[in-house]
Amino acid sequence: MLATAVFLAVLAAGSQALQLPPSNSPFAARRGLDKIDFIVRRAADPFANGTIINSMNQEYLTKVEVAGHNFTVVLDTGSSDLWVQPRRNDLAVKNQTNEFVNITYGSGSVAGTIAHGSVVISNYTIDNQTFLNVNLTDDIPIEGILGLGFDINSSIFNATGNNSADATPLTNIFNQNKSENNFITLDLSRGDDGGNTIGGAFTINRYLSDQSNVANAPRNNVTPPGSTDWSIPVGGINVNGQEYNISQDAFNGSTHAVIDSGTSFAIVSTNLSNFIYQGIPGAKSCPTDSGPLWVVPCTSASNLTFTFGGQQYPVNPLDLTTLVTFSANKTRYTACLGVYTSADVLATNTTVLPFYLLGDIFMRNVYSAFNFGNKVTGGNSSTPASIQFLSKTNASTAYPEFVKLRNQTIQDLKSKAVDPSSFDCSTFDAFAADIN
Ligand SMILES: *[C@@H]1O[C@H](CO)[C@@H](O)[C@H](O)[C@H]1NC(C)=O
Ligand SMILES: *[C@@H]1O[C@H](CO)[C@@H](O)[C@H](O)[C@H]1NC(C)=O
Ligand SMILES: *[C@@H]1O[C@H](CO)[C@@H](O)[C@H](O)[C@H]1NC(C)=O
Ligand SMILES: *[C@@H]1O[C@H](CO)[C@@H](O)[C@H](O)[C@H]1NC(C)=O
Ligand SMILES: *[C@@H]1O[C@H](CO)[C@@H](O)[C@H](O)[C@H]1NC(C)=O
Ligand SMILES: *[C@@H]1O[C@H](CO)[C@@H](O)[C@H](O)[C@H]1NC(C)=O
Ligand SMILES: *[C@@H]1O[C@H](CO)[C@@H](O)[C@H](O)[C@H]1NC(C)=O
Ligand SMILES: *[C@@H]1O[C@H](CO)[C@@H](O)[C@H](O)[C@H]1NC(C)=O
Ligand SMILES: *[C@@H]1O[C@H](CO)[C@@H](O)[C@H](O)[C@H]1NC(C)=O
Ligand SMILES: *[C@@H]1O[C@H](CO)[C@@H](O)[C@H](O)[C@H]1NC(C)=O
Ligand SMILES: *[C@@H]1O[C@H](CO)[C@@H](O)[C@H](O)[C@H]1NC(C)=O
Ligand SMILES: *[C@@H]1O[C@H](CO)[C@@H](O)[C@H](O)[C@H]1NC(C)=O
Repeated sequence: MLATAVFLAVLAAGSQALQLPPSNSPFAARRGLDKIDFIVRRAADPFANGTIINSMNQEYLTKVEVAGHNFTVVLDTGSSDLWVQPRRNDLAVKNQTNEFVNITYGSGSVAGTIAHGSVVISNYTIDNQTFLNVNLTDDIPIEGILGLGFDINSSIFNATGNNSADATPLTNIFNQNKSENNFITLDLSRGDDGGNTIGGAFTINRYLSDQSNVANAPRNNVTPPGSTDWSIPVGGINVNGQEYNISQDAFNGSTHAVIDSGTSFAIVSTNLSNFIYQGIPGAKSCPTDSGPLWVVPCTSASNLTFTFGGQQYPVNPLDLTTLVTFSANKTRYTACLGVYTSADVLATNTTVLPFYLLGDIFMRNVYSAFNFGNKVTGGNSSTPASIQFLSKTNASTAYPEFVKLRNQTIQDLKSKAVDPSSFDCSTFDAFAADIN
């Protein structure tokens, strides 16, 4: 089982430990949450028509009403559980069990007891939804997560012995509305270089009217067939006109990518990470326990394009690096770090296979439809689950826009852009110590 969510906070453990930058730390995320509260209070209904909140390009949030309370929760295609963490123990539950469940994510974990209550998502109401009433969290400073994956990947479903009455909210919605297709769509917005913004969308069983063409895009069937995750075959990867040999990362004859809105960045093979960044003049690779972390001159980038189902999906250069501001030698610096990182996840056999994990950093470049097909417990579809993408990125305009925007951001931060070639990789350890 692969359950990933939220902060790719600690890239490695041990002597070379590399903590995620201050701007991405749980501390910053907590500050971010205060701002989200502000947005939620100020706007009449920030979530009208499926609109979602983009929290610093790292999390995408929607509102879910659970047992009489509204929660702002992370939309996570990489996991399958609905959990909320009430501020007080005052949920109007229909049935609070004492069955304890611990859900462990790619980073962090939560624990609590299984409860049943009414749940409202968008314009759909489920009278008696099973969810986790969380009272313990470890490194996850959010109100809750709405897992958008398959039942088979749900810790709650598993804990109840795969009882169909305890399936995911989406399965219950799909089974209540059998005349409709079983799909969701996600349109993740891009805040230029961080910040909390309203925009983009999460929809159930409907397309955004101006992007409904996604329905005609190639269907990328979930593979391997038994996959517990939203994993699809990768057709090709091109960097600055050069084709990456994807077969070196293949499993069972095909290279797979899990499309995961709950992960901010991307985790790929070391070879692919190097392929993406090594051609950028002046870029430097810093070794970590889990592979190289690239430091890139802030206004330089590669042209990266993925191919899925024979169609090309270019990546905006803004989505190749993340800005990190830190102090060293009594000076404020900004470094631009590669977000197509590599990790040992790829080498472990605890999951079904080696795969790429493409998070928000990729998803911002597409409007995506996730078709659940035969993955709905008790559903009546026999078609395989699939993902369809509509490109949102114009390769020829994205590059010059990136140079302008990034240049402006560096100036706004009133810091000194790090020159990677003279950058001392151990600086990371120093500022990691600072924030702990
Ligand atoms: C929601 O969308 C509908 C149809 O596009 C539109 O008529 C309505 O004004 C929208 N409501 C809000 C609050 O944006
Ligand atoms: C949740 O928010 C919606 C508006 O978005 C509101 O209509 C509803 O009453 C709220 N529910 C509760 C329990 O506050
Ligand atoms: C509460 O849930 C448990 C576990 O699903 C079930 O055994 C019990 O009968 C339920 N109680 C009520 C009152 O619904
Ligand atoms: C969940 O279980 C893991 C592994 O046993 C443990 O490290 C973690 O602290 C637990 N999480 C919570 C919130 O209790
Ligand atoms: C929810 O709203 C969408 C779009 O307005 C509509 O197509 C769908 O039928 C509605 N579903 C329910 C259960 O009301
Ligand atoms: C969380 O709930 C469990 C089960 O009810 C309980 O054993 C535990 O003490 C609670 N922990 C906290 C911190 O409230
Ligand atoms: C599923 O539940 C069984 C016990 O019923 C447990 O041993 C196993 O670890 C659980 N698997 C997952 C992925 O939660
Ligand atoms: C809600 O569903 C659970 C099983 O998931 C069941 O035990 C419980 O009796 C149901 N409660 C009501 C009020 O329907
Ligand atoms: C995973 O399995 C493959 C093939 O069976 C094996 O070559 C590899 O060493 C295993 N990796 C780990 C980390 O156990
Ligand atoms: C990327 O593409 C843009 C526009 O097509 C071009 O101007 C730029 O030189 C390319 N960059 C590289 C590194 O190839
Ligand atoms: C970045 O901004 C500086 C200061 O305004 C300017 O001198 C420089 O030409 C800009 N560079 C690019 C690539 O736009
Ligand atoms: C800080 O100073 C040390 C020693 O002079 C140097 O090695 C290091 O590169 C400097 N750090 C930065 C971020 O420039």
